[in-house]
Amino acid sequence: MIVIENLVKRYKDVTALQGLNLEVKPGQIYGFLGPNGAGKSTTILSTLGLIFPQQGRIQLFDLEVFRDGKYDEGKLVEAKRRIGYMPEHATLWDFLTPVQTLDIIADAFKIPKGEKEKRIRELIELVGLEDAKDRKVGKFSKGMRQRLLLAQALINDPDLLILDEPMNGLDPMGIAEFKDIIREQKKAGKTVFFSSHILAHVEEVCDTVGVIVKGRLVLEGSLEKIKEEFLKKAGYVIIIETNKPVDLSNAPWNVSPLGENKYRITASSDVREDVHDFITSKGAKILSMQVKEPSLEEIFLKVVE
Ligand SMILES: Nc1ncnc2c1ncn2[C@@H]1O[C@H](COP(=O)(O)OP(=O)(O)OP(=O)(O)O)[C@@H](O)[C@H]1O
Ligand SMILES: [Mg+2]
Repeated sequence: MIVIENLVKRYKDVTALQGLNLEVKPGQIYGFLGPNGAGKSTTILSTLGLIFPQQGRIQLFDLEVFRDGKYDEGKLVEAKRRIGYMPEHATLWDFLTPVQTLDIIADAFKIPKGEKEKRIRELIELVGLEDAKDRKVGKFSKGMRQRLLLAQALINDPDLLILDEPMNGLDPMGIAEFKDIIREQKKAGKTVFFSSHILAHVEEVCDTVGVIVKGRLVLEGSLEKIKEEFLKKAGYVIIIETNKPVDLSNAPWNVSPLGENKYRITASSDVREDVHDFITSKGAKILSMQVKEPSLEEIFLKVVE
């Protein structure tokens, strides 16, 4: 759906993308994570032909839109007809209402008159702006503006949604609603690529996450896979509780006591069965055993380090 190969983008004295490789497959909800200044917006602007990278290749759908330092304008326009885009810093016309705003965007996409009104009504309902639909956008809160921007990104019923920090400024309710809308898009067979620097935004909604740091993709995969790989590297932490004190001084793992009959075991792999056998061989019983999952936060911080 989106293939980016070896993309290099230099602003005057800053190299924002240093040979970025990334692939978004059809039907995925892809969370593009990275700290401030990592190159997320630069990547998104490049895929849409809104800035000029120096090197690399970009493919959207089956169209090669950028290669050898040049965009193919024809292919770019063809691709963009099927894309919905929500910019990070968008200007809305403050003196227009949401209905008037969407009407103009719909005209730009040449949506027939008969279809247009229905579509605008549905989108305003979808993003929860019914009560404000005839109020001027200039007085809108940040979250309301984000909702309107999402509606305008959806106006052409796009196959691919590219959203730059779409959840910024939304309250927890707004974030939950936004995630629902994204899930609905996936159900309808669409692909979603969105950036964020906040982990909670990608959790529960993305099937794939890519982490960009200093213009390079440093991690990519499903959240489960990322956690699994992290566990392999950082070690499994297993917490057990036994029915009585056990001498674990000659156990083959790193053990530290955690209070009465409670122990923390660190091992390089999932050793739950071995732990069970070991404790039993000491004539004790395990009352509870749990593998401590790393939080995404921990992984992210480690990777960014
Ligand atoms: N127009 C520009 N001119 C010069 N440098 C720029 C320009 N736009 C971005 N940069 C630099 O490129 C790097 C990547 O910026 P980019 O906006 O892509 O990051 P980002 O990941 O979107 O960050 P944020 O989370 O803050 O939105 C940063 O060092 C930034 O200062
Ligand atoms: Mg940005």
